[in-house]
Amino acid sequence: MAKEPVRVLVTGAAGQIGYALVPMIARGVMLGADQPVILHMLDIPPAAEALNGVKMELVDAAFPLLKGVVATTDVVEACTGVNIAVMVGGFPRKEGMERKDVMSKNVSIYKSQASALEQHAAPNCKVLVVANPANTNALILKEFAPSIPANNITCLTRLDHNRALGQISERLNVQVCDVKNVIIWGNHSSTQYPDVNHATVKTPSGEKPVRELVKDDAWLNGEFITTVQQRGAAIIKARKLSSALSAASAACDHIRDWVLGTPEGTWVSMGVYSDGSYNVPAGLIYSFPVTCKNGEWKIVQGLSIDEFSRKKLDLTGEELSEEKALAYSCLT
Ligand code: NAD
Ligand code: LMR
Repeated sequence: MAKEPVRVLVTGAAGQIGYALVPMIARGVMLGADQPVILHMLDIPPAAEALNGVKMELVDAAFPLLKGVVATTDVVEACTGVNIAVMVGGFPRKEGMERKDVMSKNVSIYKSQASALEQHAAPNCKVLVVANPANTNALILKEFAPSIPANNITCLTRLDHNRALGQISERLNVQVCDVKNVIIWGNHSSTQYPDVNHATVKTPSGEKPVRELVKDDAWLNGEFITTVQQRGAAIIKARKLSSALSAASAACDHIRDWVLGTPEGTWVSMGVYSDGSYNVPAGLIYSFPVTCKNGEWKIVQGLSIDEFSRKKLDLTGEELSEEKALAYSCLT
């Protein structure tokens, strides 16, 4: 029997990530090749015509899984009945700006959209915040939507996770799908800590630690980390626009693994509400290694954290505490 359609909200759908993301969702990349979807697309009035153009293209693409499209500038209509909300709407960072610089513009959007989601989304709606500052926007959304369970509100650090996999695969000249269990700790910002201490590569003679294969701790503790931390800025410099296809693809990876589960023995990075694991301050949205099963994520416990890593986990946590304070000051 055919499955019931799932309603997926994409905010900022007339923007560049939106344009890459909606066809992926309509093709089943996010929820599976047998899962019909109804797309809800929200943007602001100045983008209404462009949004309608995206809707026209979705119709023209004749996606078999796409059972309906709601394209609107009305936040209540957009949020009504949605099972999954991918929050991309906001102002992107331009060359020379830190993600913090876009804070005041974006946190007020997330405060108001929190209420709309809380009142109108389907029960148990899963929320992924993509727009920057992603962790802090997600935290504001969580705080102003108190009836949505905290575990349902997440932010995107899967792009950073995938970037780390990509760097290791290029360095070792191995297939990216053979590299696993990197970790992005903390903020989706230049203080994030891409950690390879538990990462492995599948080889003909079994799984081997990344450190053993790379044989260059100076690179792993230096250039590798800064390359991943600065990759967003490097893309902006090259394209004069922030990353879009990789961000859209990572958003699909994030929701797919959350809903359908992570493969046995594999974890992924998600920005989730901290419960104090690994001595990360509770009450922040912080990126952790997680496994997912039956639509629930769980922080991977018991990983060893050396002194080098500890400092980096703390530093990115401090930045998130500062961002939280700054966000509240922007809202008053
Ligand atoms: P964009 O400017 O092309 O698109 C953003 C869209 O949001 C625009 O169409 C705009 O009209 C719309 N918008 C603005 N305010 C809105 C509101 N209140 N409600 C609904 N829509 C609204 O930007 P983009 O390149 O698509 O990037 C979107 C966001 O994602 C930016 O904040 C960017 O920094 C962030 N981003 C995050 C990651 C990540 O890994 N977390 C990666 C790439 C980009
Ligand atoms: C990215 O990581 O590509 C985005 O967050 C864009 C940015 O501002 O870096």
